[in-house]
Amino acid sequence: MLRIDIIIRTMSTLRASISREQAWELFLKYNQDHFHIQHALTVEGIMRRFAEELGYGEDADFWGVVGLLHDIDFEKHPNEHCLKAPELLRSSGASEELIHAVCSHGYGLTGTDAKPEHQMEKALFAIDELSGLIWAAALIRPSKSVQDIEVKSVKKKLKALNFAAGCNREVIAQGTAMLGWELDALIEKTILAMRSCEAAINAVIERLTPVA
Ligand SMILES: [Fe+2]
Repeated sequence: MLRIDIIIRTMSTLRASISREQAWELFLKYNQDHFHIQHALTVEGIMRRFAEELGYGEDADFWGVVGLLHDIDFEKHPNEHCLKAPELLRSSGASEELIHAVCSHGYGLTGTDAKPEHQMEKALFAIDELSGLIWAAALIRPSKSVQDIEVKSVKKKLKALNFAAGCNREVIAQGTAMLGWELDALIEKTILAMRSCEAAINAVIERLTPVA
């Protein structure tokens, strides 16, 4: 009984190692580019929604914080992406569970040895590049919004390799396989998640001080 109690408390402590407010403050300490901030908030929103949908609702805050912080080191240390993150996160009291999750989205790409293992890490791996591609596709629409974007137009952009050429299609394919989902299902769930948080994210971005 005591043992179970200790395990439960330990898990809670790990999840609560850094609050959403602390995570936001920490992210802004290393990121000023509005594009990066928008991406981080979008991935946070998708991760929260996926946590609920995949039956991890009680961990939604944790999934969200992982999404928010996943690119914490990219703006200032692009050549050490996912390698500098542990130092930045650890100095702020982040748990090893959080650090592993953040780094795992660079597995096979950045030199990190953190492999996506948990469903949350596989989801992050799958939606990181995909959400960037969906956002790029939305920006060229008259609406400049994901509200009216459909699965088939995203699939068309995925096949057009010259569109958002920096978006790694192979990572999306790997992430889809990790989750064991059909590509259409992943795209649809990601679009729906992005629709649900778009207005709130736009409001946050509008309130940010313009970058000089
Ligand atoms: Fe990212």
